[in-house]
Amino acid sequence: MTPVTVRVPAKVNLQLSVGPLRDDGYHDLMTVFHAVSLYDEVTVRPADRTSVRVTGQDAALVPAGRANLAARAARALAASVRRRGRSAVQIEIRKRIPVAAGLAGGSADAAATLVACNDLWGTGLSPAELRDVAAGVGSDVPFALLGGTAVGQGRGERLTAALAAGTYHWVLAFAAAGLSTPEVYATCDRLRAARGAADGAEAVLSTELMAALRSGDPAAVGPLLSNDLQAAAVSLRPGLRRALAAGREFGALGAMISGSGPTCAFLAANAGHARELAVSLTGAGVCRGVVRVKGPATGAAVIPAGTG
Ligand code: C5P
Repeated sequence: MTPVTVRVPAKVNLQLSVGPLRDDGYHDLMTVFHAVSLYDEVTVRPADRTSVRVTGQDAALVPAGRANLAARAARALAASVRRRGRSAVQIEIRKRIPVAAGLAGGSADAAATLVACNDLWGTGLSPAELRDVAAGVGSDVPFALLGGTAVGQGRGERLTAALAAGTYHWVLAFAAAGLSTPEVYATCDRLRAARGAADGAEAVLSTELMAALRSGDPAAVGPLLSNDLQAAAVSLRPGLRRALAAGREFGALGAMISGSGPTCAFLAANAGHARELAVSLTGAGVCRGVVRVKGPATGAAVIPAGTG
């Protein structure tokens, strides 16, 4: 069997509305996912036992062995199709998406592994069936399969493709160290309790943001970006406030923390503006590094052999 390679995008959340904490330890969400053109690549090939090898950005920070989300995805798929024998794979991950950055890099690798193993084993699962397996692996994994721009509900795993026009140019500013997603959610709960915020506040979708996305105008989208986890991420990393302020000062149309952070995402007016913004942010010394990306990007997809 020839190896299968899949390319998978990172995501930012254009809106992340966090509702009440549920009995299962997750929060009810209303979120707008947006896939961006920063990709990891995952190659799977048959092996005697399942193993994971990681190279590239933050490789040393990716958990190895059974704790790895990609390995868990391969096992979840084998279990769901009741695959016997020959279900072990060698998983090779080439990372460009930083780890614990709020960009769903681990979820992306899990989604890529699902698509790759599905192809390698010829399981014939439909996209919807694959999304069900993905939801069991992690809240953000189904979106990494789908890509584009989509509304996520529940834990974030219930998806509806969103009508969004145009291409958006972003600058992502990376932080020196990652943030733990559970810690950021717990901090959000603590800040809300301290404020005496109503416990039961429901997560709501911004109809203004959805209308702006349909218009395809980044100047309309920028001011409507919002993230309920931002205050928590900034309280854990006060330096992020400076990075966000610098982006706004340099003319970003919108500035926000991506997901649970600590990556900052800045929306630019066009490709040229994104280049200027990237140079200015680098010069300001407010982050470990920057990349320019475009959205929406397509979801996890097999790279035809010979083109990778
Ligand atoms: O689903 P996933 O394993 O990616 O979630 C990681 C952690 O993020 C969860 O254990 C939980 O603490 C937090 N989370 C949450 N509500 C969500 C999604 C994630 O509290 N909707």
